[in-house]
Amino acid sequence: MRIDGSTVLVTGASSGIGRATAIELARRGATLELTGRDEHALEAVAQATGGRFLVADLEEPKESDRVAEWAEPVDILVNNAGLGWAGPLSAIELTRAERMVRVNLLAPVRLTGLLLPGMIARERGHVVNVASIAGHVGVGWEAVYSATKAGLIVLSDALRVELRGLGVRVSVVSPGPVDTAFFERAGHGYERRFPRMVTPERVAVEIARAIRFDRAQVFVPHWLAFPAWLHGALPSLYRRLTRFQ
Ligand SMILES: NC(=O)c1ccc[n+]([C@@H]2O[C@H](COP(=O)([O-])OP(=O)(O)OC[C@H]3O[C@@H](n4cnc5c(N)ncnc54)[C@H](OP(=O)(O)O)[C@@H]3O)[C@@H](O)[C@H]2O)c1
Repeated sequence: MRIDGSTVLVTGASSGIGRATAIELARRGATLELTGRDEHALEAVAQATGGRFLVADLEEPKESDRVAEWAEPVDILVNNAGLGWAGPLSAIELTRAERMVRVNLLAPVRLTGLLLPGMIARERGHVVNVASIAGHVGVGWEAVYSATKAGLIVLSDALRVELRGLGVRVSVVSPGPVDTAFFERAGHGYERRFPRMVTPERVAVEIARAIRFDRAQVFVPHWLAFPAWLHGALPSLYRRLTRFQ
């Protein structure tokens, strides 16, 4: 898929990975459509990319409809908006869990569902779902977050089957820890020494490559493919090695 000359809708474009992706794709010649909740931040990204923006809260299902209507026609959709929370499952407030499911999973379901018919009609499109290594292996004390990302990964697998031969591609980009406001917003810092954080700009380059070279699954950093593979192929060994049995 050519990025140059394509119209790209990026959700969560006001911060972190979304902002870096918008800037990277604009540098590669795309026209940017940006959405998020923080108007000032979106305005700054719009200025940096020459794109336009719409303020929308994707926790509210109807807002996805408004974003899709505003953005059409879209060649590339980057479902990136998301939030996390860490702590024991019994301590999570239901409203927080619901918010994560709505933003991390239901908004991509709705936005993709609304934008796919146009892409299929034009026989040209690419959907990038920004998941997480947590969705492949399940991270302790991030159970609901991991579940939303696992949902996004399987959604992408299923969609790829449905879209075969229709000219629309699907990529999943699964980062490990990334140096953004994500952890602070989730109410905790990133305290582990390993894996080390990567920059949002590095994730943005991988997103651009996934689109350009039609990659179904990309891990950032790439070596995270190994624990994901081990978890799927030899789950008992994975549990033993990570002492999560
Ligand atoms: N950082 C990491 O370590 C990491 C690792 C793996 C995957 N990810 C995933 O990467 C994606 C981007 O995260 P990030 O690291 O860039 O974090 P971030 O800097 O906190 O950015 C999150 C983005 O999501 C948007 N967002 C959150 N709630 C929203 C809502 N209700 N409606 C609309 N937009 C909303 C935010 O918009 P506003 O600020 O305008 O509200 C912001 O632009 C997320 O899906 C996250 O799960 C992050």
